[in-house]
Amino acid sequence: MKFFIDTADADEIRQAADLGLLDGVTTNPTLIKRAGLVREDAIKTICGFVPGPVSAEALGPDADTFISEGLELAKIAKNVVVKLPTNEAGLKACKALSDQGIDVNMTLIFQPVQALLCARAGARFVSPFLGRLDDVCSSGMDLIEELRVIFDNYGFDTEILAASIRSPEHVKQAALRGADVCTIPFGVIKKLLNHPLTDSGIAAFERDAGLH
Ligand code: G3P
Repeated sequence: MKFFIDTADADEIRQAADLGLLDGVTTNPTLIKRAGLVREDAIKTICGFVPGPVSAEALGPDADTFISEGLELAKIAKNVVVKLPTNEAGLKACKALSDQGIDVNMTLIFQPVQALLCARAGARFVSPFLGRLDDVCSSGMDLIEELRVIFDNYGFDTEILAASIRSPEHVKQAALRGADVCTIPFGVIKKLLNHPLTDSGIAAFERDAGLH
C-alpha cells in the first residue's frame, strides 16, 4: 500500500518525507485554507519537492469550469493530479481530462457505483471517505472491500485511495481490505509507529546494555 499525506502544510510534508516512505500528497480547499495558503502557490511549493502524485482540487460548479481549472492546475507541474467531486459535472470533466492524459482523483466517494462510474471515466484514483462514513454509522471499510472486488472483477487500473483517515486502525483496516493508497493526516502518521510495549522494551534493552 502506498502512503500519501493529507495536508497542504509544507513542513508536515517535509517531516513525513524524511521517513522515506512518502509516495504522494492530497490537498483539498479545507486543508489549503487551514494552512493559510493560496491553492496555486501551495501546489507549486509541494510539487517542488515531492516527486509523487500531488492532488489539487479544481473548483466548479460546471463541467466546463472543472475542465478549464483542471487544465490550468495540470500546467503547474507534471505530477499534479486534478481532484474533482463525484457528481455529474465532475464525471464529465474526469472523462475529458483523462482522455487528454491528465491524471484525475475523484473525491467524496461514499458508495461503490460512484467509483465504478469514475473508473469507467478513466480516473487514476478514487477517494472513498472512510471517516465520514463511520461518522454516520456506515462502514467505510465495507466500501473499500466492495470497491476492491468490483475493480478486480473488471481489471480496472484505477487506484483505491482511502481518504478521511482518522486513526492507525483505519490505516490497518484499509490495508487489510486491499486499498492501493492511504492518504493520512500528519497527526495519524506520527502515531503509526507507536506502541507502549515497544517503548518499554527499548528502554529495558538500553538499560540492560548499560546505556543509561
Ligand atoms: O482526504 C480527505 C480528508 O481531507 C477529509 O478528512 O477528516 O475531514 O473527513 P475529514
